[in-house]
Amino acid sequence: MILNTTAPLENSVENCELDSHHRLIFELIKKVEVAITDDREIEFVSTVLMELQDYASYHFGAEEALFEIHAYPEAQAHAEHHLEFRAHLSELLALTERGEKAVRLELLRFLREWLRDHIMLRDRDYIPYLRDETPRKAG
Ligand SMILES: [Fe+2]
Ligand SMILES: [Fe+2]
Repeated sequence: MILNTTAPLENSVENCELDSHHRLIFELIKKVEVAITDDREIEFVSTVLMELQDYASYHFGAEEALFEIHAYPEAQAHAEHHLEFRAHLSELLALTERGEKAVRLELLRFLREWLRDHIMLRDRDYIPYLRDETPRKAG
């Protein structure tokens, strides 16, 4: 299954900046999917994964900064999910770089589940706090 990257709009978190990040993350995950489906060489798959890793880290930083600004009560638990994602992706990237092809299917499963469980579900929990028109915390 190739991801439908027109989908993120249906999963808007009502914050333009974060929606644009999510859109790019969908694109990057799609790129990983295509690289794996096409059985591309290790270097290529690793490069795409590193691109995803870097961008996801940037995005997590942006979300967490907004949690602080808007005093989101679930900030800590949410940030722990970001940390878990980063740790697991790093592990899978290391295995990919070692040439372990079996890890590719695990990687696809992990990324699809993360899209579904994190971006499409958990990120929606902060909508009432972070939507574009929400006033920022004073001071
Ligand atoms: Fe997110
Ligand atoms: Fe998040």
